[in-house]
Amino acid sequence: MRPRDGAFAVAAMLLTTLLATMAAAPPTLVAGTETKLPASLAQWYKPHNKRHVWLHTMFALRRELQAVREYAGEGDKAHLRRWAERFDQHYRRLPRMVPEWSDELDLELLDELNERIKHDDFKGVLRASDRLERDCRSCHRQYQALTALTHRWPRFDRLRIADGGQDRPHSDFKDELTKVVNRIKIATEDQRWPVAEQSLIALRKKLQYLGESCTECHRDTAPRERILGSETEHGLEQLQQALKQKNGKTAGRRLGTVAVKACARCHAVHRLLSETRRWLSD
Ligand code: HEC
Ligand code: HEC
Ligand code: HEC
Repeated sequence: MRPRDGAFAVAAMLLTTLLATMAAAPPTLVAGTETKLPASLAQWYKPHNKRHVWLHTMFALRRELQAVREYAGEGDKAHLRRWAERFDQHYRRLPRMVPEWSDELDLELLDELNERIKHDDFKGVLRASDRLERDCRSCHRQYQALTALTHRWPRFDRLRIADGGQDRPHSDFKDELTKVVNRIKIATEDQRWPVAEQSLIALRKKLQYLGESCTECHRDTAPRERILGSETEHGLEQLQQALKQKNGKTAGRRLGTVAVKACARCHAVHRLLSETRRWLSD
């Protein structure tokens, strides 16, 4: 899967939505355990479809409803009608796309909106569209975050890392990577400097292999540079110097910095969402 520009903002927003939902849920009702997505939704997403059709229909609906409201506010009949027609077409498509969600959609309310437009009742148009927007929100509260995670967030549990000569599942690779980081920490505390330095060499190799896997999803080099680029490289250099000087305290601090830059930053973007996705859908 190729991430698109702006998807990060979506991911961040999604996470906020999710956390808010979780915080609001009563303790006995854990988000996700009672909400399931309809099977017919999948056909409107990759890989079953060339585009994320459901999402793009949604973007169209929001734009069209905005135009309807703004032209109704201005009393501009011609433009109002043009956009209302497009809104009508897209909205009626929804229950055909996902029949399981028919109850979430109020076609009578849509008829009423069209009726108000026919009579140039601009205040009535605004009232009807207020009510339609309430329906939009009610479906979103229940299904939006879950849909984005399930159908648009890539699966890291299928990712494999070329670890030197060996092709490993991502989670096995991570177990090894964590052990190498801790081996440096343990050896530093016990002042076994050669072991610490050898382990640092191993860590650098593994980070290089990990960095080569970024292109599975990112076409550009900026994401890799941000997390495994010169800043992390600088941290690793400083760690190496501290180990050479046999300065355990400084080495410990520098290892911590590397872990924040190379591991925690990347986890904040990818891991939280991946694990939430698994928790919700598997
Ligand atoms: C792509 C950026 C990225 C970087 C860089 C990264 N991780 Fe991860 N890590 C992930 C993701 C994503 C997951 C969750 C995988 C999943 O959901 O299957 C994960 C999961 C893990 C896990 C749990 C393994 C499991 O069983 O799923 C450990 C442990 C871990 N990472 C350690 C590290 C350490 C240590 C570093 C730094 C030295 C690091 N990671 C750097 C993305 C990253
Ligand atoms: C039957 C359920 C349902 C109804 C009704 C519904 N939506 Fe959605 N909408 C969704 C789902 C599910 C998503 C998440 C899609 C995704 O992220 O891939 C979504 C996402 C969106 C988004 C994308 C939000 C973003 O910034 O990422 C917009 C815009 C949107 N809907 C507009 C509307 C409007 C406007 C209406 C009412 C006229 C509406 N939707 C009614 C289910 C619904
Ligand atoms: C399985 C797919 C996948 C892999 C592998 C992956 N990423 Fe990402 N990453 C994403 C998605 C999806 C986003 C959301 C934003 C986007 O689409 O760019 C993202 C966002 C990011 C961002 C924030 C937005 C940006 O473009 O700067 C950074 C930084 C990043 N990834 C770094 C990495 C690094 C470093 C690696 C390799 C160690 C990596 N990613 C591997 C899927 C992936």
